[in-house]
Amino acid sequence: MTNDQQLENLRRFHLFLDTALRPERHLNQSRISVQYDIVSSYLFSISTYFFSRTYCLKIMTNNYPLIVGVTGASGLIYAVRTLKYLLEADRAVELVASKSTYMVWQSEQNIRMPAEPTLQEEFWREKAGVPNSGKLRCHPWQDVGANIASGSFRTQGMMIIPCSMSTLGKLAAGLSSDLLERAADVQLKEGRKLVLVPRETPFSLIHLRNLTTLAEAGARIVPAIPAWYHNPQTIEDLVDFVVARALDQLGIDCVPLKRWKEEEKSH
Ligand SMILES: Cc1cc2nc3c(=O)[nH]c(=O)nc-3n(C[C@H](O)[C@H](O)[C@H](O)COP(=O)(O)O)c2cc1C
Repeated sequence: MTNDQQLENLRRFHLFLDTALRPERHLNQSRISVQYDIVSSYLFSISTYFFSRTYCLKIMTNNYPLIVGVTGASGLIYAVRTLKYLLEADRAVELVASKSTYMVWQSEQNIRMPAEPTLQEEFWREKAGVPNSGKLRCHPWQDVGANIASGSFRTQGMMIIPCSMSTLGKLAAGLSSDLLERAADVQLKEGRKLVLVPRETPFSLIHLRNLTTLAEAGARIVPAIPAWYHNPQTIEDLVDFVVARALDQLGIDCVPLKRWKEEEKSH
């Protein structure tokens, strides 16, 4: 918008207020001109109100933390890469890993994930290769009294990556038997974004029905199914495709992914 347009808009807004407050001052102008100015000023002020409301709300919610839930499905690298990009982008993350996540780290990588929150934060940061930037707070899976267990704690939503069929089934049934499930249930009841990245193959009819139930309840389902059109060269490239598409659902664009018919991005 040019300076002249801004001045004209301000003039109209002022005229609108003045006409509303002191209509007698405007009676000696031609009726058509007054009506035109009133209507256009009125429309301008309404659009300004809605524009600033939407814009401010977007800025505010962008500052709220994102909850990342990690479950005992195969492919913890999905969680690691998600954290890497969120923290590098200086985002705030509240992380909760289910009890089975410990077993999967152990079984697939022979790694012991610490349970103590501060040690676990260091663990995830080391895996993600992001020692300092962003904010990361880890929660024990049993702590159903944590901040993220309450709808009054404002968040930008939640992503469960990878999401096991067990967690999927519990969420579809409305169970909140640990902090991760409770936090996800809260996002649904508050009408916030819940993004699920299920990892299983093949799906049984029960899995498919649970996915449908959750999609109907408002969750976004982004299965861990990478594409090949971005010319992946490494496992990380394949994983990053899924991570980027899952973050897309939350309106977060921080993965340097070459999108379809798009030039290379530099983040
Ligand atoms: C090494 C390993 C890999 C697993 N991979 C998957 C998987 O890809 N998808 C899945 O739904 N469950 C998988 N499971 C089973 C889940 O860990 C199990 O159902 C567990 O109860 C899930 O609990 P949670 O949803 O609370 O994390 C795996 C288990 C192990 C030990």
